[in-house]
Amino acid sequence: MSMVPDVADSSRPGDAPRERGAGAWERLVPSGRNACVVGLQFGDEGKGQIVDAITDRFDYVTRFNGGNNAGHSVRIGDQKFALHLIPSGILNPSAINVIGNGVVVDPEGILAEIDGLVSRGVAVGENLKISTRAHVVLPWHKTQDRLMELALHKSRGEQDTIGTTGRGIGPCYADKAQRSTAVRMGDLLHPDLLLRQLQGAASVKNVMLAALAAHLDEPFEPFEPRQLHETLLGQARRLAPHLCDTSALLRQAMREGRRVLFEGANAALLDVDHGTFPFVTSSNTTALGIHAGAGVPGGSVSDVLGVVKCYTSRVGGGPSATQFDDETANHLRKVGNEFGTTTGRPRRIGWLDLMAVRYAAQLNGCTGLVCTGLAVLSGLKTIRAATEYRLAGKVLTEFPYSADDLWRVEPGYAEFPGFEESISDCRRYEDLPEAARRFVREIARFVEVPVRAVCVGPAREQMLPVPAAG
Ligand code: GDP
Ligand code: IMO
Ligand code: MG
Repeated sequence: MSMVPDVADSSRPGDAPRERGAGAWERLVPSGRNACVVGLQFGDEGKGQIVDAITDRFDYVTRFNGGNNAGHSVRIGDQKFALHLIPSGILNPSAINVIGNGVVVDPEGILAEIDGLVSRGVAVGENLKISTRAHVVLPWHKTQDRLMELALHKSRGEQDTIGTTGRGIGPCYADKAQRSTAVRMGDLLHPDLLLRQLQGAASVKNVMLAALAAHLDEPFEPFEPRQLHETLLGQARRLAPHLCDTSALLRQAMREGRRVLFEGANAALLDVDHGTFPFVTSSNTTALGIHAGAGVPGGSVSDVLGVVKCYTSRVGGGPSATQFDDETANHLRKVGNEFGTTTGRPRRIGWLDLMAVRYAAQLNGCTGLVCTGLAVLSGLKTIRAATEYRLAGKVLTEFPYSADDLWRVEPGYAEFPGFEESISDCRRYEDLPEAARRFVREIARFVEVPVRAVCVGPAREQMLPVPAAG
């Protein structure tokens, strides 16, 4: 049984009473057990909003991948929160928030995030647990991230750069696989071991990065391991109370029947194995990553909720088959406020790519979809969605493995009548114009997964559960 009361809690930041559409929980998490929320596109689908909508029914909210490259925005009343490393469940006073072993943690970044939340009245203490096995993002990872992007740009040009967030995510995961240059969060509690690790890693990093910087005509100041050691020990003093074996914590919680919500960061098409490689992030972003990234056994998740924005946005490099760049794209970017939560970069805009979404939903094993961004489409005469890919005249039956192919695919579009009226004030799915509901039905039909809710804006009360007969 869940320890979290079923009654709405109104003492949260932003104080707004929990105005969720009736039946949201029952529609989104029909099993009543553990669930996950994952993005089915290129990120920024609105995962934060969905986690927030159901978080008070869970005892634990757990991140299993990525780092502070993620930016999840949550709107509560007139307050907006941007979460990067800390699960969005932190805004629910009764949930324990877990940063799993599969996450990479920038100590400076997480401390700034904690301070920002505390300054706004959000309690962060016993309710935040960080895995001792999570890897530490160190200053040289950010330098390496920047220099590698510059090197790529220099050798292969704009189209081949990944356009990373610059947070050191890729180099940190690379060191995890490399092992000898890695540092884990638990190591911060062992000063002697930490110093030896930093000295060893710095001796390699300083040589490699100095050579790369010289090649690029960039300035480079070698890293001083003793100085870094001192800084990290200061940060460790503040982080120590949060560090523990989070895998053991979650396994025990699940044995006791507590409910766990897994919060995906980044999104399926950015998955390092299954996304549009090499234009991806460096972790398993899909539900496939939950077991390794949180240290929980297979079969731990009953409801897999895939979040789909009713159009496409992509930030950074890489192909997006349905991308277009005209007045309509500018309009969608503006109305959808499509500027990065983490970096502020304008996002590239495209029509909904159902070929990509169906692939992502199958990969994740989605049991339900939530469609966000429906209101952004208001006023368009015609709405388009890609339902076919052709490459060199041939219809593709599977999502292409190669980014080169994806740059070249010609999407075939289905067209749907648009809706003139603004729908952001709608509070019941049944009150949406028929054209909007038809578009939602088409998504469910094509992807072969039921749509459980639609969002007509980012606020809590703008999530509308879709009745079973929807
Ligand atoms: P996340 O990273 O998946 O949590 O999503 P972000 O919060 O980073 O980005 C969501 C983006 O979608 C923002 O730019 C929103 O302005 C835009 N957006 C458009 N319509 C909606 C909607 O109905 N709900 C939400 N949550 N975001 C929307
Ligand atoms: P959320 O959780 C959108 C993109 C970056 C870049 C690529 C690799 O908010 O949906 P990285 O810094 O991870 O090495 O960058 O991945 N990217 C995201 N784009 N939303 C995200 O997260 C992203 N996380 C990474 O823009 O193209
Ligand atoms: Mg985001």
